[in-house]
Amino acid sequence: MPNVLVLGGTGFVGATLCEKLVQHYGGGSARIVVPSRRPARAKHIQMLPTVELVAADVHDDEQLTRLLRGCDAVVNLVAILHGSDKAFDRVHVQLPRRLAQACAATGVRRVVHVSALGVDAQAPSRYLRSKAAGEAVLAAAGLDLTVLRPSVIFGEGDRFLTLFARLQSIFPVVPLACADARFQPVWVDDVALAIVRCLDDRTTIGETLECCGPEVYTLAQLVRIAGRESGHLRPVIGLPAWLGRLQAALMEMLPGEPLMSRDNLDSMRVASVATGNRPGLARLGIRPASIEAIAPLYLGEGQGPARLDHWRAAVHRR
Ligand SMILES: NC(=O)c1ccc[n+]([C@@H]2O[C@H](COP(=O)([O-])OP(=O)(O)OC[C@H]3O[C@@H](n4cnc5c(N)ncnc54)[C@H](OP(=O)(O)O)[C@@H]3O)[C@@H](O)[C@H]2O)c1
Repeated sequence: MPNVLVLGGTGFVGATLCEKLVQHYGGGSARIVVPSRRPARAKHIQMLPTVELVAADVHDDEQLTRLLRGCDAVVNLVAILHGSDKAFDRVHVQLPRRLAQACAATGVRRVVHVSALGVDAQAPSRYLRSKAAGEAVLAAAGLDLTVLRPSVIFGEGDRFLTLFARLQSIFPVVPLACADARFQPVWVDDVALAIVRCLDDRTTIGETLECCGPEVYTLAQLVRIAGRESGHLRPVIGLPAWLGRLQAALMEMLPGEPLMSRDNLDSMRVASVATGNRPGLARLGIRPASIEAIAPLYLGEGQGPARLDHWRAAVHRR
């Protein structure tokens, strides 16, 4: 499987996936193409041998078709967490539709699509409903499709435990909406490995696999783990629903990507845990790593980006 197109390959999961694909195919004849709207921001991908980072608009049919030509498989990781109905529809539904059409035009059949646990046409959030619609579009397209549905994903560079660790390094308490929401967090390396195994294993065609870690936690427990591992454990104060919504509404008004939106709160009304109705990572021979084993490696004192602090200090960049 030497030619793989990775849509969304510059992101959190994509970067780890690209590394794993390079390792797996051992460089050589493999060609991993990663389109990006802003390739200049994705230097970490460009350094990998056999990875081609290209500037492209994947919402443009002609460009998407050109990207797919000559590929053996495509992985779709493009998604957004916040946005209007229109934005969710464009990224989670129209893009899979365009992808299916471009696959038909180029004869590319193998697609691995990353969705999310809890997707459903009747789900309470726009994120989950639009992701469900995107899955349905691809499933109806007659492709050689495998769908992965992860719970929340942790690992170096995540916007989850890392964010909670950072907040606790700044504020004396954490006022938390949906403190009892449940998750079964999965390590980014395990998700990336699952994608690689799916690409290799044609018996996964037609399957939807759930990607979960070994343990279920509430959001409050996860915030405490992030605080403990980063050395800034603060008290967590669960907010009543109305106050949580007000907090999210205020965050949506701040410039830039919101830390939390009301749609995120709606998503958390569905437990992001294995349903037991679908195969999991064991189906791919993967024993998922626990948060306890991995989080200290990137949240701990002097870990993560802070690893380079003494070098930065030496060149006066701190
Ligand atoms: N992270 C999690 O905890 C989690 C949990 C469950 C499911 N998932 C799913 O896993 C997949 C990967 O997630 P991730 O966390 O790696 O996402 P991510 O870091 O946000 O990366 C997504 C990539 O998609 C591209 N992208 C974003 N918005 C786009 C747009 N409007 N048009 C075109 N391209 C766009 C971006 O590439 P450029 O900026 O380079 O163009 C970005 O690098 C997604 O399907 C997500 O729903 C993630």
